[in-house]
Amino acid sequence: MNAKNDIFSGTVAAGPAKGLRGEIKVPGDKSISHRSVFFGAIAGGTTEVEGFLEGEDNLSTVNAFKKMGVEVETLGGQKVRVRGSGAAGLKEPDDVIDAGNSGTTTRLLTGLLSAQPFFSVITGDASLRKRPMKRVVEPLSMMGASVAGRKNNSLLPIAISGKKLKGISYNTPVASAQLKSAILLAGLYADGETTVTEPEKSRDHTERMLRLFGAEIKVVRNSVSVRSTKGLIGCKIKIPGDISSAAFFMVGAMITRDSELLIKDVGVNPTRTGIIDILRKMGGSVSTLNEREVSGEPVADILVRTSRLKGIEISGSDLLPAIDEFPVICVAAAFAEGTTTISGAAELRVKESDRVAVMAGSLKAVGVKNTEKEDGIIIEGTAGDIPGGRVASHGDHRIAMSMAIAALRSKKSVEIEGAGSVEVSFPGFFGLLDGVKAS
Ligand code: S3P
Repeated sequence: MNAKNDIFSGTVAAGPAKGLRGEIKVPGDKSISHRSVFFGAIAGGTTEVEGFLEGEDNLSTVNAFKKMGVEVETLGGQKVRVRGSGAAGLKEPDDVIDAGNSGTTTRLLTGLLSAQPFFSVITGDASLRKRPMKRVVEPLSMMGASVAGRKNNSLLPIAISGKKLKGISYNTPVASAQLKSAILLAGLYADGETTVTEPEKSRDHTERMLRLFGAEIKVVRNSVSVRSTKGLIGCKIKIPGDISSAAFFMVGAMITRDSELLIKDVGVNPTRTGIIDILRKMGGSVSTLNEREVSGEPVADILVRTSRLKGIEISGSDLLPAIDEFPVICVAAAFAEGTTTISGAAELRVKESDRVAVMAGSLKAVGVKNTEKEDGIIIEGTAGDIPGGRVASHGDHRIAMSMAIAALRSKKSVEIEGAGSVEVSFPGFFGLLDGVKAS
């Protein structure tokens, strides 16, 4: 086991709580943090970032750009300074780029590196080496990219020989912000116009941030177009708290008996607020206060209270703006009255783990009845406490955190193997949770 994998080890016994009370802030948005370094690196001038998420995934992005000669300083206190190399300033990395557990680092880099005049290789940890890359390699190849990888160019490691690219108009088979962003990054270097059209609109942080850096970008419904540009300009970015991290505390407060929790400064971009809509539909008490716009992104404080949740039907379209919240939605369903049916969730099988299978197994292990389906899950709500038990994170940060939330209503406790994986997106998760537990 190498040092990187050590963060996935460690067993935590997560225990019950009467409620979650107080006021908290969650760490910066993971998706926006990645993009601040990507665009900062290829812009001219300096980009100053506040609220940067110093989780393992984002550090993989920082390290990748350092390998390409970009000066990225982590200044402490979630502050990062990126000294942009300009559009043509990246240097050939002298070794393989290790993206760790990060799909966003990998897919966005594949787009960007396809257009650079040098050779590069990307690999990652055991989970990332199983995740599908063909969806990115295919459109990039249509643009003229030369990308070779394992299993007929579909798995890491991949080797990229940078080429002059041409713009394309591409309809993506899945709504995926990583795929859209990979093509747009390549499009910033391609001849002519590059247009990506999605079946449904995925998170739009790339589009918003490109505007902040001064790029010309056209958005018409689910289509986004860019042209080649040498003119991205470094800027100041303030990153809001990650709603995907806030989601654990939202569900935790709702399912416990005596809760009132205010989560300050959370990103509420409408392509990400599916969790609020789903929890409201389940009968959850959640309000957004003090709504404002910061660095091109909507931000608000989120107030959550103990709620009597009921089972509902959740479709793929409901899930898209809550794609990373599937595990914690399963936990909300486990404590609801009645049955929750989630369908259209096939994408969840190719995340950091097969989240459909892992949540089905984990819920069973702690005493929640459910049926796994090809594209989702049916969960029988307990509307009461669960016995508890032992589960494994399968190296997946969001599984570990979701099961710690389930433990808040367990009779004994939930032992979580591989709990260190929370470092991927939420350093300090267990401490923050302990700090708001009502005794
Ligand atoms: C992300 C996009 C989503 C999401 C991931 C982050 C991004 O993945 O699940 O955690 O930053 O673009 P897909 O694009 O694969 O849906």
